[in-house]
Amino acid sequence: MAIRPLVGRLVAASLVLLAAPAFADQVESGRQIFQKVWGPDEGLGPHFNTRSCVSCHLNGGRGAPPSEAGAISDSMTIKLGVLPASETEAGKLLTRVISSFPEPAYGHQLQTRTTDGSAPEGSFTITYRMRQVRLSDDTVSLREPVLSVTATGRGPLTPGTLTSPRIANSLFGLGLLEAIPEEDIRAKADVDDQDGDGISGKPNQIRDVVSGKVMLGRFGWKAGQPSVRQQNAAAFSLDMGLTTSLFPKGGTRPEVSDEVLAALTAFTRTLPVPSGQPGTNVDAGKQLFHQAGCAACHTPTHRTKDGTTIAPYTDLLLHDMGDELADRFLEGDADYWEWRTPPLWGIGRNKDVNGNGFYLHDGRARTLLEAILWHGGEGKKARDAVAAMSAKERDQLIAFLNSL
Ligand code: HEC
Ligand code: HEC
Repeated sequence: MAIRPLVGRLVAASLVLLAAPAFADQVESGRQIFQKVWGPDEGLGPHFNTRSCVSCHLNGGRGAPPSEAGAISDSMTIKLGVLPASETEAGKLLTRVISSFPEPAYGHQLQTRTTDGSAPEGSFTITYRMRQVRLSDDTVSLREPVLSVTATGRGPLTPGTLTSPRIANSLFGLGLLEAIPEEDIRAKADVDDQDGDGISGKPNQIRDVVSGKVMLGRFGWKAGQPSVRQQNAAAFSLDMGLTTSLFPKGGTRPEVSDEVLAALTAFTRTLPVPSGQPGTNVDAGKQLFHQAGCAACHTPTHRTKDGTTIAPYTDLLLHDMGDELADRFLEGDADYWEWRTPPLWGIGRNKDVNGNGFYLHDGRARTLLEAILWHGGEGKKARDAVAAMSAKERDQLIAFLNSL
């Protein structure tokens, strides 16, 4: 299968960039920062996961969970946290002063490497329990991940530590998702399911660390970051141990300057969405997508602030996806079982982009059909509709997803 290097092709591909050479230069420098391998003399660590953005988002694509044999995966991270310990702390969550409480010794994420020769925080493995599910005319085996975290580098983990295993998202079309007006997304929210359709949709509420304002969360599997810039600064801090003006340490100068962060943000905002796979039966699949109720969450189109119609197939809201997809982690207003509807554009191209065709927040699904069959909670009705389809209809639905 041909690899489609989004990262490499970008500059030539974008007409906007041709029109604005200074911006094109900034994006090109952002591409280099995205691919840059950081060293300890530049601030990497002392605790970190990997040395570059591109090591987890290869070609701008998504990550992978550890293989069934239990190997390490660098492009999956484990979020760590604890429940609020007092009413004051709970109040901080409610007023969105912060979106999660770090594990006191280990912080917000398990970092698996160090730069100074000290013992790393720890490691993790995932094993899979297999289970069979019945379809109208077939059975499919699903793998249910069981996470085991070994953290000894900083002493024992707090009993009841919250954990969330997540693969790296693909970075397709982020600037377009960011340009959907916040009020349009909030207009689709129906937290208490007033219209009684079984689908709620809840905006995550996250503090913008620069303005101090509470904003709509858009990025990450639980919509835990309000902007591409803040997401990127958090990545520097959590994944690589590099400070920025958004997430400084003490009174020291940030290791990553605002200029470098701006270039990286320009680059990640303008990564394109790969064009879908051409397919036959796509129209029939589209009808089935709507009939099954997928569009209730995977909203086909939006209009960006400048009036462009885009088709990301997401409402960017949180939904209750049932116990089976639940982690044990609170992030802003997102509870264990709540996840942001991921965009489906380019979904059929993930494997072509970097070989990783793993779906859902922890990459448990090895095919698009498996991803659908894991939908529970508010997504259960749509899932059951797919399980009841004939093999031919399911193929049509998948062909449609691949065409997005
Ligand atoms: C160790 C692996 C790792 C590294 C290194 C890494 N990321 Fe990520 N990235 C992730 C994971 C995991 C997520 C999902 C996080 C979540 O759900 O909160 C993610 C999510 C994102 C998102 C959100 C995308 C979306 O669709 O919501 C952006 C943007 C992003 N990363 C950019 C970056 C940039 C820029 C860098 C380098 C500064 C970087 N990442 C480094 C693993 C990584
Ligand atoms: C109630 C809202 C809801 C409905 C209805 C719904 N989904 Fe989803 N979908 C989600 C959420 C939330 C996730 C992410 C869950 C996770 O990562 O644990 C998801 C994940 C997916 C994924 C994997 C995406 C990725 O990036 O890994 C695919 C594919 C998908 N849905 C397709 C469908 C199809 C097809 C239907 C209709 C049969 C459907 N969904 C119905 C909310 C919904």
